[in-house]
Amino acid sequence: MYRTLSSLVFIALIAVFAAPLQAKTCEAEIGSNDQIEYSKEEIRVSADCDTLKLTLTHDGEMPVEQMGHNWTLAKTADWRALAQEGQAAGLENDYLPVDDDRIIANTDMIGGGETASVTVDLSELDADGDYTFFCSFPGHWALMNGKLIIE
Ligand code: CO
Repeated sequence: MYRTLSSLVFIALIAVFAAPLQAKTCEAEIGSNDQIEYSKEEIRVSADCDTLKLTLTHDGEMPVEQMGHNWTLAKTADWRALAQEGQAAGLENDYLPVDDDRIIANTDMIGGGETASVTVDLSELDADGDYTFFCSFPGHWALMNGKLIIE
């Protein structure tokens, strides 16, 4: 009897401690078009996700040189300065300052018909932090931006 009971306790302990070891990957998608628009103004992600795989699609037809879009994540306090400083970095750098710690994550810059993904390590974000995503293509940031909300 005692032996059975202790076995059950042991199994229960394994179940409790094993669960957090499985990292939870969550996914989100956002579209964009030739009218300088994202399909969403906010993206919500559960606080129990460890990583977020974000996929951006460009549903327009214009090439990246004319209507490039990406998805860049930064603190809301940083994103406007990042967007403005990135204008001079050129398409080869996705119009973002090179090796800038203010960039939390960014996809490649894409043109019509293309798709790009990026994985965000959510353990680096504060659950009550304020985060903004935007397109860093010159002139797009003012129209293409939104909030990443951890809930
Ligand atoms: Co854009």
